[in-house]
Amino acid sequence: MDFGMERLHKAGIDVTVWEEDRNLTPEELVAHCQKVDGLLNVGMNQLNRELMAACPNLKVISLHSVGYDHVDLEAAKELGIKVGNTPGVLTNATADTAFLLIQSVARNAFYLNHQILEDNWKASQEIENFGIELRGKTLGIFGLGSIGFALAKRCKAVFDMEIIYHNRGNNEEAEKLLGARRVELEELLAESDVISIHANLTTENTGIFNDEVFQQMKQSAIFINTARGGFHNELDLILALQKKHIWGAGLDVTNPEPMHADNPLLTMPHVCVLPHIGSATLETRTAMLDLAIDNLIAGLNGKPLKTELI
Ligand code: DGY
Repeated sequence: MDFGMERLHKAGIDVTVWEEDRNLTPEELVAHCQKVDGLLNVGMNQLNRELMAACPNLKVISLHSVGYDHVDLEAAKELGIKVGNTPGVLTNATADTAFLLIQSVARNAFYLNHQILEDNWKASQEIENFGIELRGKTLGIFGLGSIGFALAKRCKAVFDMEIIYHNRGNNEEAEKLLGARRVELEELLAESDVISIHANLTTENTGIFNDEVFQQMKQSAIFINTARGGFHNELDLILALQKKHIWGAGLDVTNPEPMHADNPLLTMPHVCVLPHIGSATLETRTAMLDLAIDNLIAGLNGKPLKTELI
């Protein structure tokens, strides 16, 4: 992938690239961005007020992500900096990842694979390694936007699951098409066999999936997080699994990221962890990059962004 270099050069844009595969420290970020007019942010660097204030020419921040919890939108608005993200193009890939995790946890797939690696093939014949049927069970969606809706469609079509959701407003299309029902959080926790998070991370909902909340879930429930690691308290999740307050968990996002190799979640039964690959297919990442570059070029030319957050 040339990360859009050709398009940027053709548009007459001088590009400076941070080549290292890690988030920058705040100081590195300021040093790298101080003179730029536009910023294409791939990854989860914290784009805060201090950074924006230190970059007097900055007109546009283009995110190569749909999530924007790492950006201070209020500061950007005050400083007249446009911010764009990449909604829509990653809906299916992310819903596919959630669907993959639901099935992998329900069938204990990652753990049983580890057993084979430990020369323990017969483990799958033992009753404690049996999975859970998803057919006819209840899927609870926390935050029913386009990704949650795409997951609900998959779960309805393949497993005829009942769909309930907790959201600020009603999703009429999901109600009409899938018979989805909007419920309070307490009901979502009490009724769902699988709970999957598809909301934006905010200061209000950070850490919402904690010990108290896990204890309100069914003991047979599966917890899925493909949104942001900040939604769950990782120690509380480990305890909830160890104490069997819930049955299993599938994570594409961890808290913190990256997850360290000695994290107990990685060797627990009924747990599947992926390294934040929700949108990582060649097709989706290409579409995200195209959209992010469209937004960047529009912002640099003083035009409205295709997908503008502010
Ligand atoms: C997103 O687009 O927000 C994904 O989580 C990638 O970071």
